[in-house]
Amino acid sequence: MEPLTLARTPQNPASESLGQEADLSVRLKTIDPGLDLEAEIVRLKGDLNAVILAHYYQEGEIQDLADHVGDSLALAQAAAKTDADVIVFCGVHFMAETAKILNPDKLVLLPDLDAGCSLADRCPADLYGEWLKQYPGHTVINYINSSAAVKALSDIIVTSSNAVDIVNQLPPDQPIVFGPDRHLGRWVEKQTGREMVLWPGFCVVHEQFNARRLAALRAEYPHARLIAHPECEEAVLAQADFIGSTLALLKYVQTHPDEKQFIVATEAGILHQMEHSRPDAQFICSPPNSGCTCAMCPYMRLNTLEKLYLCMRDKRPEITMDEETRVRALRPVQRMLDMSKGLTPVQQKGD
Ligand code: 13P
Ligand code: SF4
Repeated sequence: MEPLTLARTPQNPASESLGQEADLSVRLKTIDPGLDLEAEIVRLKGDLNAVILAHYYQEGEIQDLADHVGDSLALAQAAAKTDADVIVFCGVHFMAETAKILNPDKLVLLPDLDAGCSLADRCPADLYGEWLKQYPGHTVINYINSSAAVKALSDIIVTSSNAVDIVNQLPPDQPIVFGPDRHLGRWVEKQTGREMVLWPGFCVVHEQFNARRLAALRAEYPHARLIAHPECEEAVLAQADFIGSTLALLKYVQTHPDEKQFIVATEAGILHQMEHSRPDAQFICSPPNSGCTCAMCPYMRLNTLEKLYLCMRDKRPEITMDEETRVRALRPVQRMLDMSKGLTPVQQKGD
């Protein structure tokens, strides 16, 4: 089945999203250009008793203001633990939604409601639910990069940090359906040695890495280690020295001080932390097909410092969902958190 291409995320119906656009552009004009945005964000954080969670693909200036910077799993764990009244999520919609699933009574803010995700967009819950009917008796494992409605159809949620470990915890003869990322799914199949039924979704950012251009880059930098996110396609992963989640890639760089050059096959935002912790090393972006030198997620990059300030000042846009969906989505998310206790986030290629 070919995945759908949707202009807007299914969790953000066009009317809601377009309304937000008009509202946001009006509010952006109300910011005094002389305002010290960083200082205001810190002040608002105290006033609101808020916690700022940021993903590694956010702009460096946003990461620097955050209380926690992490991969999807670390941010879900931070959201599950926080005692703040307000969660300001600098990431994409499914991440903020996960925080809301875990915290129904807290205000969860996302600087730009249009910050969706191509994987979540291409896996609408109605089509996914129909597709699942073909596989009765299968355990439904879903990547966290999915809407709350799709999570509600799942047995267990996983991230790229824990997918291999969680699949390995299931009985070997248990049939599994895995969605929505076919590349992550295929990589998990290889690591665990078990077959799964895969939904044919993909990330538009990671699918752009070109194996042929990457091979040429490797020839140009023969001493560089190639590190890649498992959302990349198979031909790219086949060339990688290390494969892992954003946090695992960062840890790899931090724990290999003798390596001085790294070719990085994921979104360029991660370089902010890599360069910070390894100023002695050189980081080379894997070239996407677009002709740009670095890959940037168009959804993640919708969040800006201005929008972060505005969402805290005006307490909107906020993440909402119907309670029935939330309760059904909570079970597989909680199962993921329980099954991840004590796991090391780093998965070495070939482990
Ligand atoms: P991580 O969980 O590895 O941070 O990945 C999230 C993501 O969206 C990758 O594209
Ligand atoms: Fe989604 Fe890809 Fe962006 Fe990650 S990089 S948030 S998977 S579109």
